[in-house]
Parts: sequence; C-alpha cells; structure tokens
Amino acid sequence: MKGVILAGGLGTRLLPLTKVTNKHLLPVWDRPMIYYPIQCLVNAGIEDILLVAGGSSAGDFLRLLENGADFGLRRIHYSYQRGEGGIAAALRLAEDFASGEPICVVLGDNIIERNIADAAARFREQGKGAKVLLKEVEDPQRFGVATIQDGRVTGIEEKPKHPMTNFAVTGIYMYDPEVFEIIRTLRPSDRGELEITDVNNAYIERGSLTYEMLDGWWTDAGTFESLLRAGNLVADGGANNI
Ligand code: DAU
Repeated sequence: MKGVILAGGLGTRLLPLTKVTNKHLLPVWDRPMIYYPIQCLVNAGIEDILLVAGGSSAGDFLRLLENGADFGLRRIHYSYQRGEGGIAAALRLAEDFASGEPICVVLGDNIIERNIADAAARFREQGKGAKVLLKEVEDPQRFGVATIQDGRVTGIEEKPKHPMTNFAVTGIYMYDPEVFEIIRTLRPSDRGELEITDVNNAYIERGSLTYEMLDGWWTDAGTFESLLRAGNLVADGGANNI
C-alpha cells in the first residue's frame, strides 16, 4: 500500500498564522505539523509517500523533508494543488502515483496518539473497497459524521447541524484504485469543494466501505482551538506511539 498526505488548501481558518507559511508547517509542540501524518504512515509500514502541497510556501516542504530519508522512507514524491478545490480534488492528483495500488490517505492536519498498523493490515486483507476510521467526539458538527446500523456505516453527513451520532470520520482513509473513478463522478458541494464525504458515500452505496474505531486520542489542528489542543496532547504524552 502507498501513502498519500493531503496538505493543500490555504489554511484560511488560521490567518494570520498562515499568511506567510503553510498551515502544515506550523509547530505542533516540538515538530512541524506535517511530521505527524508522515510518521503515522511510516508506522503502518508504508515506504512510498506522495505529499500534495498547496499555497505560496509549497517549496518549503521540499526544504524541510528533502527526500524523506530522515523518516526511513524509500521515496517521497511531491505534487501541487492549485487553489482549494477540496480534499477529493487534492486526492485526484495522486492517481498516477497510486498506479493501480491501494492507498492510505491522511489529511495533513490530523494527529493521532497511537498507530493504524492493524487497520492497514486488515485493509490489505480486505483487498478492495474502502475503510474509514471513526472516533467518538464531543463536537461532531465540525466533521463528517457516520451513522452505523448492524455493524455497517449506512451514511456519512458532512458537518451536520444536527448530528445523528458522535462518530466523527477522521482524516485517515484507505481506498482501492476505484477511488479515482469515483472522484471523476463528483460535483462540487455548496461550499464549492469536491468532498471526501461524497467519495465515502459512493463506497457505501456500492456496499464496500468498512470502518474501525481509532484507538487513542485523535485531533485535527486546523483551527486555533484544535491547534492548541494538538500541541497540548503531544506535549503531555507524545504522538504516533513515540
Ligand atoms: O479532520 C477530519 C475532517 O476533515 C473530516 O471529518 C471531514 O469529513 C473532512 O471534510 C475534513 O473536514 P475539514 O473541514 O476539517 O477539512 P479542511 O478543509 O480543514 O481540510 C483538512 C485538510 O485537508 C487540510 O489540512 C489539507 C487538506 N486539503 C483540504 C482542502 C480543502 C487539501 O489538501 N486540499 C483542499 O482543497
């Protein structure tokens, strides 16, 4: 399985912090934010990563990460997303890189306490379809929210005003190569983006989406509150089992 990290978008929710640098280069405790999703993939046994960057500081990723050797990566590839067309639009740029292999996608602002190695192993066994990782949260309105019936996810709603459950869809997704065909069928949402939630709902319709509950804490770091929370969580106990 190959890894894809989506670090596009303009990080406008964090202005002015993101005026002259990329959101994913901001510090989370003692490291740049982007280190955490990279380590998450490395811990799952992934050696080939594509990083999709965006904005005017995209070149800084190359200066920071070089060829990925510091993480033990075999190779790190880079792509560039213009503007902020959405998470699924950024993922579309990974089609050539994936070249028919399954992929594990991590959003560049997602940080976890433990690791996803077991979930990745089970997805390798699953062989096709998709897998999402869920986490119970207190503020589901901020996320994609999953409804579960009889052990299956029956639907995902993006940022619902009145969430049906507290199960947030984390920014860690596993897909077979059909994901790129699905992305080609998407239309922009009301916020003008190609939504990853629409991709996951397409897998639900095909009956091929599985889920697991993520162990340990999980946070994004894309708002002032969550960026502070992420720094405190890492300072208190480390991330990615390190
Ligand atoms: O963190 C998990 C949540 O991430 C999910 O529960 C939601 O279903 C999913 O839509 C997403 O919600 P956010 O509103 O938090 O996404 P945000 O716009 O903050 O983008 C998260 C990351 O995705 C960002 O750090 C980089 C990447 N991204 C985002 C956009 C809009 C891109 O690479 N390109 C983009 O155009």
